Amino acid sequence: MSPIGIDAISIYTPPYSLPLTELARARGIDPLKYTVGLGQETMSVMPPREDIVTMAASAALPLLNKNPELKNTISLVIFATESGVDQSKAAGTWVHNLLQLNSKARVIELKQACYSATFALQMACAFMKQTPHQCALVIASDTARYGINTPGEPTQGCGAVAFIVKQHPRLIEIEEGAGIHTEHVMDFWRPPYLDTALVDGKYSTRVYLTALQTCWDHYQEATNRQYESHARFCYHVPFCKMAEKAHERLAKESCSDNSKHALIYPKLIGNSYSASLYISLASLLENDPEDLSGQRIGFFSYGSGCVAEFFSGVVAKGYQQYMAQEWHHHLIQSRTPLSCPEYEQFFLLNSLKSTESYSTIDSAAGSFEFLGVEGHVRRYKKKQSGL
Ligand code: CAA
Repeated sequence: MSPIGIDAISIYTPPYSLPLTELARARGIDPLKYTVGLGQETMSVMPPREDIVTMAASAALPLLNKNPELKNTISLVIFATESGVDQSKAAGTWVHNLLQLNSKARVIELKQACYSATFALQMACAFMKQTPHQCALVIASDTARYGINTPGEPTQGCGAVAFIVKQHPRLIEIEEGAGIHTEHVMDFWRPPYLDTALVDGKYSTRVYLTALQTCWDHYQEATNRQYESHARFCYHVPFCKMAEKAHERLAKESCSDNSKHALIYPKLIGNSYSASLYISLASLLENDPEDLSGQRIGFFSYGSGCVAEFFSGVVAKGYQQYMAQEWHHHLIQSRTPLSCPEYEQFFLLNSLKSTESYSTIDSAAGSFEFLGVEGHVRRYKKKQSGL
């Protein structure tokens, strides 16, 4: 059987951020609670000219620019998101149009809180096993919104990841065998009439850790692998301290620090829900100073509600040459830091709109812009000076 997995990966986050020390100052909170207690430094803020579609297209575009042949070989586009922009039409159909993909490619949207990108990956692997000359484009794009002056506020953020799944992958081969945990819990959810999540915060952190333990036990049973069989670990990162606690749980007495490079991007971007685990993977592959070729990585994916999965992959030889570290560092470092009132203004402008037409205010964006709604139809534009 041919190896299958992730052949290329690209991340995107909008050009604005909020330093958590600024948020803490405005809320009258000790900044150490956010920077040490939650482990976060900044969070990306989505401007009115962006949404999950523009972030997704901006994440995917560099993959196509690097390899124009992809347009002819992508036969499946899976868009994973918690923050869908339409109750019926898949967000991926807008991305398909903005990127001018092949009309013979299937497009579908998946939802299960932050877990759906993992199912998208597994589904893409299953599809591509049958089709040696085609590939799947998997996109996860989300904006984490809890509301102004809520306990969840410092754990917001936004971003997107796009990756190509195919046979003989150049980055990471996804292995057979996974540990799964599904349970009906109300830790975090969002009814259709709300644009901010409802969350039982402390309970959600306990459910996350219980789901990790159950998945890990199931994974060990299915694969016979131990903690030591993995060189590195990537977790879903709602905030870095959560992933650190998860890692302590698995590492037990071993004091290995083998998840820290996976947290470099999430610490600066904040929660990106479905994209978070894969932004963490890009962070690991682009920032770990060791050559990880041939090493096994363990992945923990958690989606409130809840569905969770522990699975693994083996890093391909020479993966470094296919990463985009400089570009990703530039994206993150060139963001404009906002004051708290500026962030609040963007937050309110991005709230659910029920009118049939509106235009977004001019604000910096990536390669694609969300212009507003005209007669209930969302309008997008590719910028001339795109990537
Ligand atoms: N200096 C240093 N540390 C401090 C501090 C200070 N001055 N003040 C507080 N802290 C520490 C606390 O001790 C605590 O650490 P521990 O948990 O290790 O004890 C940490 O800072 C946070 O403090 P609190 O627990 O008091 O914080 P809170 O109640 O205000 O809210 C939260 C924390 C529950 C995570 C909240 O931000 C929240 O609801 N976030 C959204 C939900 C979430 O992210 N859940 C994660 C699991 S669910 C999931 O993963 C899916 C998803 O993406 C949403």
